[in-house]
Amino acid sequence: MMITSEEFVWRAIPPRPRSSHKGTFGSVLAVAGSASYRGAAALAVEGALRTGAGIVTLASVEPVLAAVSARLPECCLCPCEAGAAGGIAPENIPRIQRQKATVLLLGPGLGYTVQSAARAAETRMLAGTLLPGFAGSAVLDADGLNAAADLLQAGKLPHPQGDLILTPHPGEMARLTGCSAADINADREGTALRFAKAWDAVVVLKGARTVIAAPDGRCAVNPTGNPGLARGGSGDVLAGMTSALLACKLPAFEAAVCAVYLHGAAADCAAAKHGEAGMLPHDLFAELGGLFAANG
Ligand code: APR
Ligand code: MG
Repeated sequence: MMITSEEFVWRAIPPRPRSSHKGTFGSVLAVAGSASYRGAAALAVEGALRTGAGIVTLASVEPVLAAVSARLPECCLCPCEAGAAGGIAPENIPRIQRQKATVLLLGPGLGYTVQSAARAAETRMLAGTLLPGFAGSAVLDADGLNAAADLLQAGKLPHPQGDLILTPHPGEMARLTGCSAADINADREGTALRFAKAWDAVVVLKGARTVIAAPDGRCAVNPTGNPGLARGGSGDVLAGMTSALLACKLPAFEAAVCAVYLHGAAADCAAAKHGEAGMLPHDLFAELGGLFAANG
């Protein structure tokens, strides 16, 4: 086990070559958001854009696209008609969008059992269809993980052809594994490592001192971050950041370790300015810029 260091992070994130172009830094397709969770998509997309992805496209329903494009003109849009239960149907995401993406981010704000059983079925169909056919790597977060938990229980965790990163908080990990959150927190490293191997995925077990485990047995514990992150929206930012580092071609373990470290370091800067109670997830973006400026 290693404690992530600043040196590890800046060694893993290379400077942008002078001759680079947007294709050098990959293309993230984020499938996120729903009528009730528009901000989750906005935070994930901005997390990806502010962490260096070449292109970020958001596939979502119209009210989400309207909110996100008003805020982030850099985001490309893939409009999806809402399914009968308000979710996104996989056939709404054209083959060309799936082919040109190098990283798929699936989950933030999609809506799951809270909405209805029918919405859960739509999100399960989305995850079960998009992931196995995807040629690149994928990040599964939030309701993407809830869908994966049900698919896993029914027999199979969907896996893209490239690498897979899962970013559960202990509650989501409990659902995925069938263990209790208390048992998971009693052995965070052991649990993350065991399931990283079983699922052939990098597991980011979130919470204070987030654990990142790889299927090959590598494991890192993150020293940055603070309780100012303990509020809705922080996880969406991290999912977007992780996708961007994958798109920039960091290997999956390094992408996850670096995203978690920078997310926490940006939160520590935000807490110094606004306090842990006063800071907000979208404050992380300005601080992230400061970190890149100082080290990039
Ligand atoms: N110290 C350091 N980091 C922390 C702390 C802490 N005390 N508390 C939280 N964090 C970090 C976590 O490590 C993680 O990176 O903040 C992030 C929180 O992520 P999530 O738990 O996924 O929260 P988020 O997704 O933003 O919250 C809204 O919660 O139950 C779900 O479905 C719901 O999507 C909704 C979501
Ligand atoms: Mg979350």
